[in-house]
Amino acid sequence: MTTAAKLNIVPFVSVDSMMKLVLAIGVERFLTELAAYIEEDFRRWELFDKTPRIASHSHDGVIELMPTSDGRLYGFKYVNGHPKNTREGLQTVTAFGVLADVGSGYPMLLTEMTILTALRTAATSAVAAKYLAPNGARTMAIIGNGAQSEFQAIAFKAITGIDRLRLYDIDPSASRRCAKNLAGMGFGITICSSGQEAVEGAEVITTVTADKQYATILTDNMVGSGVHINAVGGDCPGKTELHRDILLRSDIFVEFPPQTRIEGEIQQLDPDHPVIELWQVMAGKVAGRSSDKQITLFDSVGFATEDFSALRYVRDQLQATGLYEELDLLADPDEPRDLFGMLLRAGAKEGVVA
Ligand SMILES: NC(=O)c1ccc[n+]([C@@H]2O[C@H](COP(=O)([O-])OP(=O)(O)OC[C@H]3O[C@@H](n4cnc5c(N)ncnc54)[C@H](O)[C@@H]3O)[C@@H](O)[C@H]2O)c1
Repeated sequence: MTTAAKLNIVPFVSVDSMMKLVLAIGVERFLTELAAYIEEDFRRWELFDKTPRIASHSHDGVIELMPTSDGRLYGFKYVNGHPKNTREGLQTVTAFGVLADVGSGYPMLLTEMTILTALRTAATSAVAAKYLAPNGARTMAIIGNGAQSEFQAIAFKAITGIDRLRLYDIDPSASRRCAKNLAGMGFGITICSSGQEAVEGAEVITTVTADKQYATILTDNMVGSGVHINAVGGDCPGKTELHRDILLRSDIFVEFPPQTRIEGEIQQLDPDHPVIELWQVMAGKVAGRSSDKQITLFDSVGFATEDFSALRYVRDQLQATGLYEELDLLADPDEPRDLFGMLLRAGAKEGVVA
């Protein structure tokens, strides 16, 4: 097989292969290694093409494309967000993505990204918390105990040392499922009957609810000084989780300000309200947490570089694990300009005239 012939076959990581890959590596190790890729890419932030994601909004949800490139590789993710889906037995968030070679423009990887998005979102939150959460924090409240929640818990345990969880969801069965799924993983878990109860004694508060409205998951009185808030669920215009007064008391850390101002909690603030770019903290250009009293807020919306890092990480695991299928994705005529001839020859083989 020539190199050109090999390039037309694109590795494809199905949901089944992704699950096998995560299980073969181990969830904690996967999250820790993925977090290192994410941090590495945040540190070379200036190299990347950056644009707010391209969103197509509808009454019930949003479909988004998230492209970026570091000049050598190009990646994009297709992702949706439909909070009403779970009532119909469907996921709120599903995704797939592509990594491509900038030199040839040929795709190098096509992969499921529903599981990978949960992993990369959690890894990003935990990396941010490494710089922003109070020193030695061990207790985290998780409000919203759906698809993302266990990943958040495990990433915080692996990367920041959180080992006590206080869970709350408007649907108590979601909290019970989350607690059951995390049993035996080294957490002390308390299921709470309100958001107020969940935040008691928590040094880190993660909000990861799904509701297509300006919700108030946290009111101002629920947030004491010194806390780190990891606000994950507010990620669309008209979809937020925190009362505005909390934002006014917090130092706000964001991924890419032009996107977060459209989609994040800070859509509630003036367009020039000061925010700190997370990459600058990771690159050592500005401080993360600087006092015990400070309220730090990671206004997470999810940015394309995080998916790019995840695509890179997955691609780097393929050789050693073999957990992929070969996809005949790209037409590959012997003479590159004879695309029609390739069709004619295929027809002749089948006895069909084009
Ligand atoms: N920031 C990011 O990078 C990023 C990435 C992925 C998902 N998200 C967002 O995170 C959110 C959660 O995603 P998911 O896949 O876990 O969704 P999900 O539908 O599986 O779970 C959401 C949970 O929130 C609960 N909930 C809704 N309203 C609540 C309230 N008022 N109080 C307490 N609990 C409440 C629901 O009962 C449900 O169990 C979504 O809004 C999604 O868009 C953000």
